[in-house]
Parts: sequence; C-alpha cells; structure tokens
Amino acid sequence: MTVRICVPKEVREGEHRVALAPDAVKRLAGNGIEVSIQAGAGELTGFADDSFDGAEIVADAGDLLDKADISLVVNPPTGEQIAQLREGSVLIGFLDPHSDAQRFERLAARNISAFSIELIPRISRAQAMDALSSQASIAGYKAVLLAAGHLGKFFPMLTTAAGTIRPSKVLVIGAGVAGLQAIATARRLGAVVEGYDVRAAVKEQVESLGARFVDTQVQAEGSGGYARELTDEEKAQQQEILGKHITGADVIITTAAIPGRPSPRIISRELVENMRGGSVIVDLAAEGGGNCELTRAGEVVNHAGVTIDGPVNLPGQMGGHGSELYARNLLAFLDLLIKDGAIDINLEDEIINESLVTHAGAIHNAAIRERL
Ligand code: NAI
Repeated sequence: MTVRICVPKEVREGEHRVALAPDAVKRLAGNGIEVSIQAGAGELTGFADDSFDGAEIVADAGDLLDKADISLVVNPPTGEQIAQLREGSVLIGFLDPHSDAQRFERLAARNISAFSIELIPRISRAQAMDALSSQASIAGYKAVLLAAGHLGKFFPMLTTAAGTIRPSKVLVIGAGVAGLQAIATARRLGAVVEGYDVRAAVKEQVESLGARFVDTQVQAEGSGGYARELTDEEKAQQQEILGKHITGADVIITTAAIPGRPSPRIISRELVENMRGGSVIVDLAAEGGGNCELTRAGEVVNHAGVTIDGPVNLPGQMGGHGSELYARNLLAFLDLLIKDGAIDINLEDEIINESLVTHAGAIHNAAIRERL
C-alpha cells in the first residue's frame, strides 16, 4: 500500500506559506508517494493548483484529511482540523509544544501520531530538518527590512553633493539564527552593526559577519546550545553595559528567547525614553512577551519618538522561500519516517522519539504530559 501525504490550506491569518512546495511534491511523487493538496493551498504563496505537478487537488479539507496517512502543516491544526484528521494517522508541523497542552489531548484522543518539528534535537544528523533555523533566518532578514522601512535615515554611509551621511547604527540583541541573519542583512545594507548575546560562543560568529560584539561579561550557556535565564545580578551587570549601546543605536533588533520561558526583558521603558527620537526597535520576541517592556505583539507603537514594532509570524510573510525551505526540512524528516514505502515510527531513533508528542492514543512527550 502506498503512503498518502496530504497538505491542507493554512488557515492562520497572515500566513502565506504552505507545507509543500511544487519541487518537494515532484520528489515525493517520484518516490512513489501519493500527494494530495487542498485546492488553493498555495494561493497566497504564488503556487497555483496546477503547479503541484504529480499531486491530486482536493477541494474540501475534510475529504482531504480523512484520507491522509500523513498530514503536513505549517501551523498547529485548529480544533476543526483535528476533528477531520483520519484516526491513527501521522501529523507533522510546527505544533507549538509550549502552548495549549489541551490541543495535544485532542490529538491523542484521535490516536494521531503527532510530530512537533520544533522538538527535533539540534544534532548534526538533523540539520537538514531544522525548520526552526530555516524560518528564524527569514525572521531575522525581514526584521531588518521592517526596521529600515520605519527608520527616517539611510542605513549606509553616503557621500552626496549635499554632504556626507553617516551610516546608521544597528544593535542586534540575541545572536542566534535570527540574530545572525539580521546582522548579515544590516551589514549588507551598509549599517554599522553591533551584536550581543549571553552565549560566549557567539562572539566569533558576530565578528565573522563584520559586526562588533558587545561584551557584558555575562555568560549564560544553558543546555542544548540554548541560553538560560539570567540571575538578578547578571541582569544588572548586563543592563549597565548594554544600556549605553541601546541608547546609542538608531535601530535595535531583539531576538532573545529561552525555549518554553517568557522572553527576557532587556529594554526597559526608561531606556527607550533615553533613545534618540526617530530610533526604531523591532522586537522578534514579541510573541513570547517581548524583549522590550513597551512591545505589543502584532502592533507598531510610538513611545517618546521611538517606533517599537512587535511583528508576529514574520516567516509567514515570506511565502515562497519560506515554503520551499520548510518543505525541504520536511522531506528530510520524511526520509527518516518512511522506510521501504511504509511509515516506520522507530522510537529507538532520538529524532523520532524527541519530536513525537502524541502516539498510540497517549501523550508521548513527558513535558506536555506533566503540564496536563
Ligand atoms: P533562540 O531563538 O532560542 O534564542 C535567540 C538567541 O537569544 C540565542 O542566541 C540566545 O542565546 C539569546 N538569548 C537568550 N537570552 C538572552 C539574554 N537575556 N540576553 C541576550 N541574548 C539572549 O535561539 P536559536 O536561534 O533557535 O538558536 C540558539 C542556538 O541553538 C544556536 O546558536 C546553536 O547553538 C543552536 N543551534 C544548533 C543547530 C545545530 O547544531 N543543528 C542549528 C541551530 C541552532
């Protein structure tokens, strides 16, 4: 029996991505896998139904999901979509494991084997599947473009007949995947860039992109390559040194996050009030509460002349490359999950085991089980 993979249209507002791009469909079909796509799934991406060569186009989401062996999504399924998934089938996507544990109860009740792509361990074997990285890189790039749009200044130095324009100063706080892409993008636009992170390993990466590393002497390496939360003393030390760089910047991009925890507060109201009028903050941590005290998720606010943008789901705005990269991440994961033309959920494999959140009618992920 051949495996059937289904891709519904994303229903999240502002979402332009789709879980499979035409290239990926071609590759799956070439491997003897049946692919069904909901009509219009690629509409906002710029992929017309007939561009999905080799796929069957199904008009209704219910009919589509009811036939799926594997459903691929970008965003967590809605309650309605969960009810439509075929019992006992596999679901793969960004399932947002740190929020709404009840969703997983509903998935388990329908005996869905659900894989949360965010939980794939970041080991070298899984690099091709790292959708957190592929999408964070988009967020970092877009954040800089947003900031440039808000800023009433050029990024690069310009020599004109009317005199010389000094380059803008950009500070990137949190130099993970998104932050490093933001640094690279701001450099390409000609700004003078500084980068900051609590993980010491990042210094070299920041410098290799042509930015200066702000050293606060605070080091907070956590587990799995991530940062840990700072102590009160460390926060004070960070504020003292970083504060001067914050008030001196024309643009600040913040990306600081700790998985499963609220975003650390790094830019206080007071610091914003000490920034130059016309400066811009783009806070990529908006959805987790924001790195700036004044950030409001999904809004652009102006405080004392400073523009603070808290965009949500920036990768969703880059439908084309966002979908292509995400689909390639999923293909790499499917290579692991489909063996000899059949689904093989091998719990001995750490990539499978750690990303599996519900399975065999139960919550497989211990952290989610505890929260429930
Ligand atoms: P993230 O989105 O969880 O956090 C963004 C950045 O904020 C991180 O660099 C973190 O250190 C920093 N941060 C947290 N608290 C902070 C604070 N109070 N002040 C300043 N900065 C703070 O991280 P992301 O981008 O998902 O990746 C983090 C790391 O994960 C990578 O740099 C790497 O070490 C590891 N990773 C490994 C990969 C692999 O081996 N395949 C692939 C991608 C990432």
